[in-house]
Amino acid sequence: MSQIANLGYVGFGVSDIQAWRDYATRILGAEEGSLSSDGAIRLRLDHHAYRILLVDDPADDIIFAGFEVRDAEALDALGARLTSMGVEFQIVTEEDLKARDVLGMLRFVGPDGLMCEAYYGPLIHSEHPFRSPRSISGFVTGEQGIGHLNLFVSSNEEAKAFFCDALGFVVSDYIDMKVDNRDITGTFLHCNPRHHSIAYVEADSPKKLHHLMLQVRSLDDVGSTLDLVQSEGVKVSASLGKHTNDEIVSFYMKTPSGFDLEYGWGGIEVHDAEWRVQRHIAISVWGHRPAMN
Ligand code: FE2
Repeated sequence: MSQIANLGYVGFGVSDIQAWRDYATRILGAEEGSLSSDGAIRLRLDHHAYRILLVDDPADDIIFAGFEVRDAEALDALGARLTSMGVEFQIVTEEDLKARDVLGMLRFVGPDGLMCEAYYGPLIHSEHPFRSPRSISGFVTGEQGIGHLNLFVSSNEEAKAFFCDALGFVVSDYIDMKVDNRDITGTFLHCNPRHHSIAYVEADSPKKLHHLMLQVRSLDDVGSTLDLVQSEGVKVSASLGKHTNDEIVSFYMKTPSGFDLEYGWGGIEVHDAEWRVQRHIAISVWGHRPAMN
């Protein structure tokens, strides 16, 4: 049983804030919220004050991941578990809590320098319901969090020790694949019914993030977004397809930062009582063919 309830937010360091604001609102259908007290741009996907933070930073990569826990006791329990695993915390100030609008937070470094923030008590704007600037039916969040991150890591063992042994993620499945004639294995981890909130592959990469997946509520949302992406000249990295393991129907596009965003619908849910670890040897049932435009 994971100590982590869900992947609650992500922070991207982006070199072109204006391009990102335009992309996030006009293409993805995110809603821009108020500025964070530290100046980060807040993007909403639901009734939370934000789900994505854009920080003016040349990294063009993920710069932090926020993992929600239930309450103060759960945060204390996670802290004790991390301490016993030899994971050290950084000092979190009142300003940090204010910038994230959370009641409590632990900040620590994950595999390959990924900054992780475990928190409880996010700010909810029920008085300002989420309104997408686009006519989409919305994003699947709630207990499943915002979606999933697919990370490049330098060591499968270190990643597994961190996410599974320290944070309590559970393996959903593995995909053995061939990329550029190399055999690699993708590892997919869950902490709630979303098939995976974290996935990683061992690879040499200048970026930590391969993609963020956002799941929408209808197949039409995926189709209309693909139409928009193609008419607006956003680069499609992988065509519409269906993944073998989470069965999501999705396509991949390049963000203004060069990493990918997967936009999908219909992922299966996993429930620990009946789930058994699986192995796959193909990424997709159909589709997900490389770049078309
Ligand atoms: Fe994905």
